[in-house]
Amino acid sequence: MDHKEGQYKVADLSLAEEGRKRIEWAESRMPVLMKLREEYSQSQPFAGYKITGCLHVTKETAVLIETLKACGAEVAWSGCNPLSTNDSVAAALALGPNGDGDGVEIYAWYGQDTEAFYWCIDRTIDTTPSTTLDDGADLIFRVHSQFPEKAQDIIGGSEETTTGVHRLRAMAEDGKLLYPVYAVNDAETKWDFDNVYGTGQSTLDGILRASSVLLAGKNFVVAGYGHCGRGVAMRAKGMGANVIVTEIKATAALKATLDGMRVMPMEEAAKVGDIFVTATGMKDVVRGEHFVSMKEGAIVCNTGHYDVELDLVALNDIAVSKRTIREDNVEYTMDNGRKVYVLADGRLVNLAAAEGHPSEVMDMSFANQLQAHLALIRRHEAGEDLPNTVLDLPEELDQEIAGIKLETMGLAIDTLSDEQVAYATDYSAGT
Ligand SMILES: NC(=O)c1ccc[n+]([C@@H]2O[C@H](COP(=O)([O-])OP(=O)(O)OC[C@H]3O[C@@H](n4cnc5c(N)ncnc54)[C@H](O)[C@@H]3O)[C@@H](O)[C@H]2O)c1
Repeated sequence: MDHKEGQYKVADLSLAEEGRKRIEWAESRMPVLMKLREEYSQSQPFAGYKITGCLHVTKETAVLIETLKACGAEVAWSGCNPLSTNDSVAAALALGPNGDGDGVEIYAWYGQDTEAFYWCIDRTIDTTPSTTLDDGADLIFRVHSQFPEKAQDIIGGSEETTTGVHRLRAMAEDGKLLYPVYAVNDAETKWDFDNVYGTGQSTLDGILRASSVLLAGKNFVVAGYGHCGRGVAMRAKGMGANVIVTEIKATAALKATLDGMRVMPMEEAAKVGDIFVTATGMKDVVRGEHFVSMKEGAIVCNTGHYDVELDLVALNDIAVSKRTIREDNVEYTMDNGRKVYVLADGRLVNLAAAEGHPSEVMDMSFANQLQAHLALIRRHEAGEDLPNTVLDLPEELDQEIAGIKLETMGLAIDTLSDEQVAYATDYSAGT
């Protein structure tokens, strides 16, 4: 472990060169964020502000972090999952773009235990942030539960994922949220792209890296047909799998049916599935009784934010033995003699066993993150007193971000003529 107090704690600084190349690769595929970096590095809107983040340390996150820094922010960072940090990227961030030590404050390494996970978050809170950037609300929750005195210096925050937004809305409803937070997750250019196409592709990537099984012809069970689940189901279907969906919401189940998926309760799906992916944000979706009824060789993983979707405590009770059969893949032999395989310890399989979402999709998610922090600081400087609640980003921003994305893809769209604009609001025009 390489540790310099007040600057970094990462696994191995000698990996920095490899990490730098990964970051450069991501930069070349994140044109929207790079365009914003170019624009705002001139005006330095974050000068004098400290942005503290708790989000998967991947090459794409590194592009966001270095963009915030280029726009004037002092940045401190930790990972938001013990198994998602890319150690080479963390090393490159610590040493900075020129490898001379002018990096950001970063505390993150792959495979940390729970105590180390919170130690890292706490070191970033020590910097007394101006704004916080979360993925899962662990940083915000830590400020509120352990360092509430720091909250008075915090202008606001942003939240990247569905589970985090749910947690924050619950805190706000209870009157417990101490500062305003933008729900970046809920922006159309985030939720409808990152969660769907990002999770769709990267979850299959994680499953394949950890198992290398053939997807065609397999019974592929997806629990939850929301944004992430739909993306995973779509991609698995495209690879020739027979997709089965389990849901608790009638409309979501109906959408899955009309999209050509089979729908059934988990109790039934457990008996026929070859591969299981949870994408619900809910706990105990695959429980002991489900593991027991699974076929020999079933593969089980999770792509929701927390590992609680699979009841691994129950599986450990049922299992008579377990061994790591290959990287990110543990074989459990149950007391009924059958074996099941759990990928990535039930953590987000796309980040723990693969590299997370492709850069192209994180480009838009992180453009929204940058805009959220710009909005917080601009509104603060304008003297606005924002309520301590969960805020939505303006819809116009989605059109702006999507517009830049299309432009960088070399695609153009139509615009309405004056007559068409008038027609849109003319209620007298009928057949
Ligand atoms: N893997 C990743 O990189 C990644 C990316 C984005 C979001 N996420 C996480 O994925 C999870 C889902 O996010 P989303 O945006 O798809 O949420 P969503 O609200 O769009 O969808 C969740 C779906 O799960 C269903 N559901 C809830 N409990 C269920 C149960 N017990 N059985 C079956 N279905 C159930 C809900 O009815 C809903 O349709 C969250 O934890 C989110 O934070 C992960």
